[in-house]
Amino acid sequence: MITTQDLTKVYRSGGRDLTALDGVDLHVREGEVFGVIGQSGAGKSSLIRCVNMLERPTSGTVLVDGQDLTALQGRGSRAGRELRAARSRIGMVFQHFNLLSSRTVRDNVELPLEILGHSRRARATKAGELLERVGLGDKANAYPAQLSGGQKQRVGIARALAGEPKVLLSDEATSALDPETTRSVLELLRSLNRELGLTVLLITHEMDVVKTVCDSAALMEKGRITESGTLDELLATPHSALAAALFPVSGERSGPARTVIDVTFHGDSASRPVISQLSRTYNIDISILGAAMDTVAGRQVGRMRIELPGRYEENVVPIGFLREQGLQVETVRPEAGDASFGKSAPPATSGKTEKQEAGR
Ligand SMILES: Nc1ncnc2c1ncn2[C@@H]1O[C@H](COP(=O)(O)OP(=O)(O)O)[C@@H](O)[C@H]1O
Ligand SMILES: [Mg+2]
Repeated sequence: MITTQDLTKVYRSGGRDLTALDGVDLHVREGEVFGVIGQSGAGKSSLIRCVNMLERPTSGTVLVDGQDLTALQGRGSRAGRELRAARSRIGMVFQHFNLLSSRTVRDNVELPLEILGHSRRARATKAGELLERVGLGDKANAYPAQLSGGQKQRVGIARALAGEPKVLLSDEATSALDPETTRSVLELLRSLNRELGLTVLLITHEMDVVKTVCDSAALMEKGRITESGTLDELLATPHSALAAALFPVSGERSGPARTVIDVTFHGDSASRPVISQLSRTYNIDISILGAAMDTVAGRQVGRMRIELPGRYEENVVPIGFLREQGLQVETVRPEAGDASFGKSAPPATSGKTEKQEAGR
């Protein structure tokens, strides 16, 4: 639904060039909620602003719903007619809401419809529907200053939906909100995604947002996307920084001649008593060194760091058992010089073999 190819953005300011986007290939599928996460300055806002041509990319292409936006004339407020039409089908929600304080809630929602030339009556009907949808049916005549942050963002969302977009872009929409309000706004985005089939591309610096609402995610660093995939794919990718950030596990081995593994549970495996089966089947004592369990997009997932007695070679069969249960298993390499890490151990869970093994 949204594809960027080799997208770059270089800002020229004060005689200096600053590369904010450095060859970004993004692919957001129709109907998914896709999160781009990264630290401040990573280029997230530049990316989202290039997707709807608020900023014109320096090079590369942006396709939204099959249309090449980079081929259309203009940018920002000087967009040509075709670009304006295309942009009206892309809703945008901002961190600081960007509501007009002199207009009522209803008039704020009607604004994009005025620009599109809808009649007064059609605008009023549509705005009423949208305000109902975001839970603000009774606030139509209020002014933004009379609303809480969460309510303002709901107005922002209603306004973004006015053009009946297929795509909603959200730049840190919940970053100015407290955790409880964040949750309710994310729930609203989720329900819009489900009920309207809206594709959502959201930008955030908060891992919790990704965990709560996203189907897929990408990690952005210094203008580049360094990892991307569905949350399941990321969880199944050994050494994924995103997976580790979503489910941080830690824990030190208790001594030499121990095997430490990180086990990732998702899908069915999350609800089965796999660890106790392992213990009973092989009659071994298992220590749990660390664990992180959570619900991601409505499903239980988690990671557990466990320790088995004996060196890696002695645990090939139990580890095979875990993989047969559909679990992702990564060996935690002991510190160099640790005698427990035998010569025949696998080469530190190098990506591909692990993934293939896990898929068996
Ligand atoms: N209009 C601009 N002019 C010059 N530099 C900019 C402009 N907008 C963003 N930048 C720079 O581009 C980099 C990426 O910024 P941004 O896309 O806002 O990142 P993020 O949203 O991830 O914090 C930063 O170094 C920022 O200072
Ligand atoms: Mg930003």
